Amino acid sequence: MPSSRLEGLHKLTPRERLRLLVNMGWIPAQWAGEAGGEAGLLHHVSLQHLDLISENVVGVHSAPLSIVPNLVLNGRELLIPFCTEEPSVVAACSKAALLTRGSGGVTVTAYPRRALAQLLVRAPEGFVGLPGPSDLEQLRVSLATVAAKEHPRWDAAGGRVVALSARELNNMGSPFASLDILFDPGDAMGANLAAQLADLLAGLLNASSWTPICPIVSNHPTSRSFCASVRIAEAHLESPGVPGNAVANRIVDLSRWASCDPVRCTTHNKGVLNGVEALMRALNQDTRAVAASLFSWTLRNGHQQPLVEWHWEEGTLIGSFAASIPCGSVGGTGAFMPLTPLLHTMGGIRSAGDMEALAAAAGLLQNLGALLALATDGILAGHMKLHARKHGA
Ligand code: MEV
Repeated sequence: MPSSRLEGLHKLTPRERLRLLVNMGWIPAQWAGEAGGEAGLLHHVSLQHLDLISENVVGVHSAPLSIVPNLVLNGRELLIPFCTEEPSVVAACSKAALLTRGSGGVTVTAYPRRALAQLLVRAPEGFVGLPGPSDLEQLRVSLATVAAKEHPRWDAAGGRVVALSARELNNMGSPFASLDILFDPGDAMGANLAAQLADLLAGLLNASSWTPICPIVSNHPTSRSFCASVRIAEAHLESPGVPGNAVANRIVDLSRWASCDPVRCTTHNKGVLNGVEALMRALNQDTRAVAASLFSWTLRNGHQQPLVEWHWEEGTLIGSFAASIPCGSVGGTGAFMPLTPLLHTMGGIRSAGDMEALAAAAGLLQNLGALLALATDGILAGHMKLHARKHGA
C-alpha cells in the first residue's frame, strides 16, 4: 500500500487531490480523467443506474465525497472515504489520524461477526412453556440443513446457523414468543438472509405447535465483534499553551462526563457516529441499521454509556471502542455502485471484518478529534472557519 500520509491535502483543489492520489498509486489514472471539464470521480453514476437501485427515482442526491488521510490501522496505511456535508468532521478525523500515526495508529482486534433474525410465534392451545434446549437444538440442526441447501453460496462462504433460542414475551397479552436465530452472515450484512432464515424456520414448525406470525431481521446487537484502541504518548498531545498531560487529563474528564451524564453522552456518541456514518454513507451501507444497532449497544447495561472511552495509564492516553457495526463487503447497494471497488481498495477492505475495523477506526478517531478540540481550543473556532467558505468568506 502507498503511504496514507497526504500532507497538505486540504490545501489542494479537488482535481489536484485526484492527481495526487493517482501519482501516489492510490487510484488508477482513469478516475482522475476529465469529462466535460469535471474530474472523473464526479461522473460515475447515471440516473438510469440509480433507477434500478431505488423506487420513484427522479434525480441524483449529491453530497461531498472526501478522503481522510493519515490512517495506520493494524500496521496498514489506509485512506478513509467519508461522505458528509460537515467539513469539521473530515478535518477532525484527519487530524486525529495524524496524531495517532506517531504512536502506531489504531489497533483493531476482531471477534466473530454475528447477525440476528426473529420469528414471532403464537403459543398453541394449552400452552405449557417454551421448547426445551434439546427441541431447540433439533430445530437448529434442521434449519441449518435447509438453509445450507437454499443458500449454497452463503454456506460455501462459511455461513452457519450458530444458535436458536426462545424468549417468552409475557407482556404481549396472550402467549407469544420470539424464536431468535443467531447466525454467521459471512461477508454480507445479512438483513435479507435473516428474514429468509426466519421464514425457513416458520416452515419447520409443525402446525400443532407454535404458529408462526412474523419473520424479520433484528438490528439488535448480540455481542461485540471488534475492539479498537489507540495508545497516545503524552508528548504527542501537547498543544500550544497546554502541556500533553493536561490535554490528556481533560480528555479523560470529558470521557468520564459522558459516562456519568446521559445528556452529554448523547452528544459524545453523536461525535462517534459522525465518523462511522460518514464512512458507511460513502460505501452505500445501511446507515439506519448502524445507528439503531449502536444506539441499542449504548444501552446494553440498562443506562446510556459512551461508545468510546478514555483513560490515562503511566504517560499514555488510551482510547477504546468495542461494539459491533452491521455492514457487508458483498451484497447490498454497495455492490451496484461503480465507485465501490475503488473505495474498498483505498480502505483496505477485503471482507466485512475489514469494513467494520475501518468503521471502528473512523468512530474512535472522530471522537478523539472532537475531545481534542473540546480539551484545547473548543470546537467553535475551527467549525466556523470551515463553514465560512460556503459564504465566500
Ligand atoms: C459535532 O458534530 C460533534 C461534537 O459535538 C461531538 C462531541 O461533542 O463530542 C463535537
